[in-house]
Amino acid sequence: MCGIFGVVSDLPLVDVLLKGLKRLEYRGYDSAGVALEGAHGLFLERTVGRIESLRSALEEASRGIFQDASIGIAHSRWATHGAVTEANAHPQSDGETALVHNGIFENHTELRAFFPQKKWESETDTETLIPFISEKIRQRRAFLTAVRESLDMVRGGYALLIINKNFPQQLIVAKNGNPVTVGRGKGAFSKSFFVSSDCAAMAPWIGEKADLEDGELCLIQKGPTESKCSFFDSRGVPLAKDWEPFVFADNDCDETDDFALKEIHEQPGLIKERIAAFDQGAFANWGARLAAKDALNFVGCGTSFYAGLVGAYWFEKWARLSTHAEIASEFRYRCPVLPPKSLYVFLSQSGETLDTLKALEYATKHAVETAVMTNVLHSTMAKKAKDLLPLHAGPEMSVISTKAFTAQLAVTACLLLETLAVQGSAHRSALEADFRNVPALLRTVLSNGDAMNAAAEVLATASAVIFLGRGLCYPIALEGALKLKETSYLFAEGYPTGEMKHGPIALMDASVVSVVLAPFDDLFEKTLSNTQEIMARGGRVLFLTDTQGQEKIQKQLCEAMAAGTVKIFLVPPTGELSKAFVYGVAAAQIVSYKTAKLKGRNVDRPRNLAKAVTVE
Ligand code: AGP
Repeated sequence: MCGIFGVVSDLPLVDVLLKGLKRLEYRGYDSAGVALEGAHGLFLERTVGRIESLRSALEEASRGIFQDASIGIAHSRWATHGAVTEANAHPQSDGETALVHNGIFENHTELRAFFPQKKWESETDTETLIPFISEKIRQRRAFLTAVRESLDMVRGGYALLIINKNFPQQLIVAKNGNPVTVGRGKGAFSKSFFVSSDCAAMAPWIGEKADLEDGELCLIQKGPTESKCSFFDSRGVPLAKDWEPFVFADNDCDETDDFALKEIHEQPGLIKERIAAFDQGAFANWGARLAAKDALNFVGCGTSFYAGLVGAYWFEKWARLSTHAEIASEFRYRCPVLPPKSLYVFLSQSGETLDTLKALEYATKHAVETAVMTNVLHSTMAKKAKDLLPLHAGPEMSVISTKAFTAQLAVTACLLLETLAVQGSAHRSALEADFRNVPALLRTVLSNGDAMNAAAEVLATASAVIFLGRGLCYPIALEGALKLKETSYLFAEGYPTGEMKHGPIALMDASVVSVVLAPFDDLFEKTLSNTQEIMARGGRVLFLTDTQGQEKIQKQLCEAMAAGTVKIFLVPPTGELSKAFVYGVAAAQIVSYKTAKLKGRNVDRPRNLAKAVTVE
């Protein structure tokens, strides 16, 4: 997790450093810090809270003297080792060496034992590398050699930016397991170099980039006129690296603070673009390939996993292909048997989620066919993918995943339709027509402002919320509960409606609200019966249903409706593919967003979360 950012420049760099850090804040935002090297020596500032707090602290503490800094490193933290405190924020430093770290030194306890007399300043794993480097520099090793030899002591993952006050013109970058990219400046910054854990963070300033591979190091040296950048392997042997042009469609990331709503509203347009890509044959090669498989598997975490679960329902029901979805963190460690004639699709918005990345590596090692469905085409998973299924949803800035989820559904729907075409399925044309209707249906859902506010008012007063769904609505119920938890901090659970009576019903009382996803389909009657079991125990119910469902509910539950214990949030009638989109957007995204707003939460940056989860 954590974002790291570095700049070596002949121009004032503090503002750029903070702006770059802000663009990285999605990786973690519980505390932040910078270290600067300049004519005034090594200067460090760290704060608990967001980048704005760091900016004010820095302005106050440095009183402008660091306008002459020529090297800066910065960090936005998602705490792993040690609480959220200033002492545990990065950069970690002993006054000589300062470094920022994304990753975990797994053997930090062993590393501490090498310095029994040392008074450690933090509880972080990161700090334990510093004395090794400083000691080697005192033994007159060159900076790069000192870092390289010290890293031999470390077990675990890292992307590191390191400076040392004895080498005020040098910045060292090191990578193992966690991504880091060096960027060469453009325009006014053409003599500058940038480094970051995500090249999108450097987008406004760089024209070219070079990714580091595991075990590689980079030394950026500030010269009197030009700066120089050299790459090395883990033995210190120089490496020739190609610089690639860097082009990035930006998303005015710095300025807005409510990306979630913007991204939710982008969805009809994005699905339309996927349909256009489908029409142009973007998925045409997949039909025969999938139809020839014995099994299909979707693997991911969080929202990406739920999108995979929807895919599993679709493929089994319509393509009659044995399909499963699995949580990436479980997949890898249960040592699954991977049947040879199967395809494993790894879903990840960020393409950096470590659990999913490791699951992909496991599948690759076991020689099954794999594909990666991701939104970030420069991500680690995209680079490792044998086959890529791009989401093209545009940068998703809010920590809550919304448009990436519906893009995952759209790409999966395209794969399904291509498979059904090869199979000559009789269901295909109805499903395709339904899929084409999704943008219009979502526009209807998104224009239903008053009903959404009323639904949110019901949830905001609950002590706990249970999302219930049968069939395809079950994965949507899981996604709804996740969204509500992460945006509103309300306790929420997703459950298969039919499973309610096997335990969770014990929770029911007037303080608990059940959000029942009830499209008027072949499972509607059963859903309604299960809901009555809840109401008989005093539970409150919010139905999401269509006009036909509404009619039935009004007839059967008129008393409860009059008493206000049952409420209805109306959505348009749906078909078999559009159902997941409509209920996903309505139940999971909008209801959660509105509830969170009522509760005064920061939807884009919920507490304790990060956008890319790069630790296991
Ligand atoms: C979504 O709202 C969550 N913040 C989270 O569950 C996310 O979906 C999960 O961490 C997986 O991320 P990925 O899609 O980038 O791999």
